[in-house]
Amino acid sequence: MSDLLRDIVEPEALEGFLAAGPVPRGLPAEAYTSQRFFELEEARVFARSWTLCAFAHELSSPGDVVPVTVAGLPLVLVRGKEGELRAFHNVCRHRGLKLVDKPCSKRHRLVCPYHNWSYGLDGRLVNASNFGGHGVHQAEGFDYESHGLAEVPCRQWHDWIFVNAAGNEPDFEAFLAPLMPVVEGLDLANIDPLFKIDSGIFEANWKFICENFVEPYHVPVTHPETAAGQPLKDHYLLRDNHLVGCAIDLDEGKMGNGSARKANRDYCLDISARYFLLFPNFLFFIYFGEETHVNVMLNTPLAPDKNHQRRVIYQIGGGEPSEEAIEGWRQLNNDVVAEDRFMVEGLQEGRRSPVTWNGGVLSPAWEGSQHAFQELVIQAMK
Ligand code: FES
Ligand SMILES: [Fe+2]
Repeated sequence: MSDLLRDIVEPEALEGFLAAGPVPRGLPAEAYTSQRFFELEEARVFARSWTLCAFAHELSSPGDVVPVTVAGLPLVLVRGKEGELRAFHNVCRHRGLKLVDKPCSKRHRLVCPYHNWSYGLDGRLVNASNFGGHGVHQAEGFDYESHGLAEVPCRQWHDWIFVNAAGNEPDFEAFLAPLMPVVEGLDLANIDPLFKIDSGIFEANWKFICENFVEPYHVPVTHPETAAGQPLKDHYLLRDNHLVGCAIDLDEGKMGNGSARKANRDYCLDISARYFLLFPNFLFFIYFGEETHVNVMLNTPLAPDKNHQRRVIYQIGGGEPSEEAIEGWRQLNNDVVAEDRFMVEGLQEGRRSPVTWNGGVLSPAWEGSQHAFQELVIQAMK
């Protein structure tokens, strides 16, 4: 364990976490509150991994440009002339201004608003405008080649775009491998975004959101109506290497059995589902209702206690859902998000108390995926 980590978190709390006895402990409080821990996480967890950063349908045409933040770094995604996708540090190579500040389309060049340097969609510096004098775009001792935008490894898998900001390029196939058995049989080549939800800022650490996502223990208590059809006893945990999560399989006969109406809702989660996270931040869930829905949640950590969240809900194959059905699903999702938000923001507030210094305790029956996620964080931080 690195001394740096021991220096940031209470060593005794870290020992307690690592000991992982029959009743494991959660992460030390500083993992959720410390600015130093957060910065180390940016460098060691997010920069060195394949980190989800955008949805490909949001930049599907040549000339589409989308700025993103990954590991605290300003990056920009660019769809090139032939449809190729590239990621760059979103920084002008002249004096380092952030180059692109909002999504734009139909671009042939990226032009810096400060002194007009312009770059091709492939990142090459095309014109260092007037750099050597009025009407003189060259200067002695200056070369264009080494002043193009700095590229970052980037991959697209179906609608999801991942970058590796540190450029250490972990094997992308190996990254996706644990996911394959879980998505087997899903026609991901034919998914359409049904609707999107921008949940805005959560006043909570990103890890609380992930932990909440992979543990089923809270479901009947936090979501008594929205998840009225998902009793605790039918849940189980998923774990394969850096994939952690939980799932519920309901008998076909029991699905959509009217528990929604009992709970005074037209729509609720009375369906089989899979919820999982591919470390560090690919949060993927599948609902097996009359149609199959895939949801992907994109969290962007902004500070130890701030996280921006949005999600896209896709339909796989199947017919055209009615406006009413889409509205019903949207409302259900919004309600579930609000219920989870209340809990994760409460966990964040709880970390202000000295009582939470050593992370609380985790259920050996239901919170194993949560503990596995926490172990992945600590492993990456070493
Ligand atoms: S900082 Fe971009 S052109 Fe000067
Ligand atoms: Fe929840």
